[in-house]
Amino acid sequence: MKVASALDYRTLARRRLPPFLFEYIDGGSYAEVTLKRNVAELERIALRQRVLTDVSTIDLTTRLFGEDLALPIGLGPIGLAGMNARRGERQAVRAAEKAGIPFALSTVSCCPIDEVADAATKPFWFQLYMIRDRGFMRELIAKAKAAGCSTMIFTVDMPLPGSRYRDVHSGLSGASGPLGQLRRLWQGATHPGWAWDVGINGRPHQLGNVAPVLGRDSGLEDFLGWMKTNFDPSVTWKDLDFIRETWDGPLIIKGILDAEDARAAADIGADGIVVSNHGGRQLDGVPATVTALPPIADAVGERLTVLADGGVRSGLDVVRMLALGAKGVLLGRAWVYALAGAGQAGVEHVLRIFEAEMRIAMALTGRTRVDQIDRSCIADLP
Ligand code: GLV
Repeated sequence: MKVASALDYRTLARRRLPPFLFEYIDGGSYAEVTLKRNVAELERIALRQRVLTDVSTIDLTTRLFGEDLALPIGLGPIGLAGMNARRGERQAVRAAEKAGIPFALSTVSCCPIDEVADAATKPFWFQLYMIRDRGFMRELIAKAKAAGCSTMIFTVDMPLPGSRYRDVHSGLSGASGPLGQLRRLWQGATHPGWAWDVGINGRPHQLGNVAPVLGRDSGLEDFLGWMKTNFDPSVTWKDLDFIRETWDGPLIIKGILDAEDARAAADIGADGIVVSNHGGRQLDGVPATVTALPPIADAVGERLTVLADGGVRSGLDVVRMLALGAKGVLLGRAWVYALAGAGQAGVEHVLRIFEAEMRIAMALTGRTRVDQIDRSCIADLP
């Protein structure tokens, strides 16, 4: 198939991946109302076409958290990303570097921080989940520092993982016995491209950063079950002091959907937030991020840097998010589909697609710089 859009990579990913991996990326929680809402509400935002403005030079660069970026986009943190292509996070960090944008490594990645650092030539971002063992947290943050990570994303919308029914059906979750293993093996064996690339040559299959505390359990046997028992649901705003003590670089709080919480993030001195509902994977039924974004940007946009994610499948969606108050956008599924479909080259390609789509959207809304994208780019719908 000739790939023309980010969604074409979804088709490729569905063909190539064993279902237990495809459904994990593609799915959301419960009835997936929020997952669909993220996409549908973005699509509903009508851009305001303007013509005959000189758009011969369009500058997509921006500056976020002290870093100059080629695009107002980052590769958001994705758990298990490295299972979608051989040592997937290594490939993704390289693609991000080539595109001149940041890559955020998830706590629950397959490749550990030092392996990604080894593949990278520039600092990348690290995403933190609060695990019960604070000593281990300290070690993890120290590792991120030692690896030269520039920015920390602390994810706060997963005191417990959402119920993801697709993961139960596919065999990713709640299937830790030999039968579950057999099922996943069978799914792998019937997807030979993946089986060769990742199943055989992409080992070890484990959660690289947390492997030291997992013992014999790799965390992959019952991934959501593992998160349920190891993530710390007692975390409150006070625990941010702990992170602040151990991490002195820029700190972004991810998973904010309410202006009150956004103000609290600003009050504790966060450098940024990600307006996010975790891609519709946590509390189903909450608003689309694009709907939650404008009041949050109004409340705290002057005090910290507002990023957003959720439902972004094209450069047009990036422009919509920027117009509604985000300074940058994190991609999730869009980059992982591309990684699954064609590895590093796929991620580089999908980022070129986003760039081209952004250029067109900017040219036809009459904007030549990222900082000119504001609410006047949105058309009033009757
Ligand atoms: C992890 O962050 C997940 O959404 O599964």
